Amino acid sequence: FKQETLTGRRVIITAGPTREAIDPVRYISNHSSGKMGYALAEAAVEAGADVTLISGPVNRETPDRVTRIDVTSARDMHRAVHESIEGCDIFISTAAVADYRPDTEANNKIKKDPDAADETLQLTLVRNPDIVASVAALEQKPFVVGFAAETCDVISYATDKLHRKKLDLIVANDVSDSSIGFNSDDNAVTVIGPDFEDTLPQTSKRQVARQLLDILAQRYHDWSEN
Ligand code: PMT
Repeated sequence: FKQETLTGRRVIITAGPTREAIDPVRYISNHSSGKMGYALAEAAVEAGADVTLISGPVNRETPDRVTRIDVTSARDMHRAVHESIEGCDIFISTAAVADYRPDTEANNKIKKDPDAADETLQLTLVRNPDIVASVAALEQKPFVVGFAAETCDVISYATDKLHRKKLDLIVANDVSDSSIGFNSDDNAVTVIGPDFEDTLPQTSKRQVARQLLDILAQRYHDWSEN
């Protein structure tokens, strides 16, 4: 691992899940633990970067020398990212952001209707802002790295997201394998750029993070020279 490859660079990393409120006591979320994003924050500090971690609700210690901003929903995360983005050199979107949220948050706990013949409850979901795509669309954009959590056709869906969201790199993560996905200690990923693919075999998220940082720093330096 090459130390100090990102000395003086500002890196923003999003991590963890988001929570989308249904009512005061319920929400929609996912199984992201933040392990991958926090490991990347540690690796970026080791590489000499000035790191801001924008984190959804997770039960993790803040790594040394990392500035952490806690958020709850996708819209909170979107706001926090855009409030911090000025002067950012590299943006890494590890967070498992909810694509949809309930269209309204009920003011009070939703009650069962004991007289209703229908045993179902309908929730209407609306799209959340796409945070990583909104960063990639900025005029003064940083080097933008996305992740893709897929359960099938991993490489082709990830490549599609690389192009659709106009990212510089995407890290494809096969989350159908529970040993390398949400909440696991290990990961195995494929890094995809416009003209290359690099596969990192299964190891700890800490090691994957260091290897990713090496690839990313090299690609970032090539990109920033052009
Ligand atoms: O947190 P862990 O338990 O360690 O698990 C790690 C992980 C599986 C969450 C991580 O490795 C991973 O794959 N993160 C991306 C999860 C995801 O939401 O992927 P996606 O394919 O739905 O989204 C693609 C990209 O767009 C991601 O960079 C995501 O952060 C971003 N996105 C998605 C939706 C949205 N509204 N805004 C976004 O920025």
